[in-house]
Amino acid sequence: MDYQNIIVETRGKVGLITLNRPKALNALNDALVDELGLALNGFEADENIGCIVITGSEKAFAAGADITMMANFSYMDAYKGDYITRNWERIKTCRKPVIAAVAGFALGGGCELAMSCDMIYAADSAKFGQPEVKLGILPGAGGTQRLPRAVGKAKAMDLCLTARMMDATEAEKSGLVARVIPAEQLLEETLKAADTIAGFSLPVVMMIKESVNRAYESSLNEGLLFERRTFHSAFALEDQKEGMAAFVEKRKAEFKNR
Ligand code: CAA
Repeated sequence: MDYQNIIVETRGKVGLITLNRPKALNALNDALVDELGLALNGFEADENIGCIVITGSEKAFAAGADITMMANFSYMDAYKGDYITRNWERIKTCRKPVIAAVAGFALGGGCELAMSCDMIYAADSAKFGQPEVKLGILPGAGGTQRLPRAVGKAKAMDLCLTARMMDATEAEKSGLVARVIPAEQLLEETLKAADTIAGFSLPVVMMIKESVNRAYESSLNEGLLFERRTFHSAFALEDQKEGMAAFVEKRKAEFKNR
């Protein structure tokens, strides 16, 4: 596949997608988001891949939806075309874990893209924000929904209504990002974590992702029941036998993803 807006590579068992529109600070247009969907399909279908990383450049993860693309949209263009958001949920529906490695600006759709991933590792240079209000629009790819779930209503309102940017330290303190890493080590450290994840049993990793996501989409009782049933089903896996045998025999487990 010949991608124009992203770079797609594999690093061992990790699929790496680099957003690549440097002149526009990786602004997200339909072509880029469609390519992202295709790359995710490829990694999802590839049995050798156990974890996916999405990253940008040193200066920008993504500075938002492409404003030049949207500037003259009519309501009908936005509604019928469902522009950049039409493929957005592909990240959420991907059953393998997806980590966003964010350096520089993650604004508007860029922040929303990062939040669609399962977790965010941020460089100390990262800046998050939902500045759509300055453009006369509101966030349209999950900003008003995922941000309050991540950082709480007060901070989400503050960011969406004032358009201010939040640095990596504040983002970690408020629960938006999982780790802050010195910028020059961001990719290396993220790939290391992704490789660790990819070394575990893939079906178990998928169950964990599904179960944690349930916490956001169900009541506590329903979520606990889902977790309990999924936990029980893990005992049907050969990997459970292998994992526990390896512990007892004091050796490293060799998971077969079965
Ligand atoms: N769309 C299109 N082009 C963009 C862009 C965007 N979102 N963000 C940056 N660019 C372009 C700039 O136009 C500029 O291009 P030229 O060199 O051709 O002029 C280039 O990228 C570099 O940008 P700057 O010169 O502005 O760089 P800077 O370092 O001075 O500022 C910035 C960086 C603060 C990120 C600034 O570019 C900026 O504010 N960008 C827009 C951020 C924004 O409003 N994002 C929300 C978009 S709407 C959205 O995302 C809707 C949604 O929820 C789905």
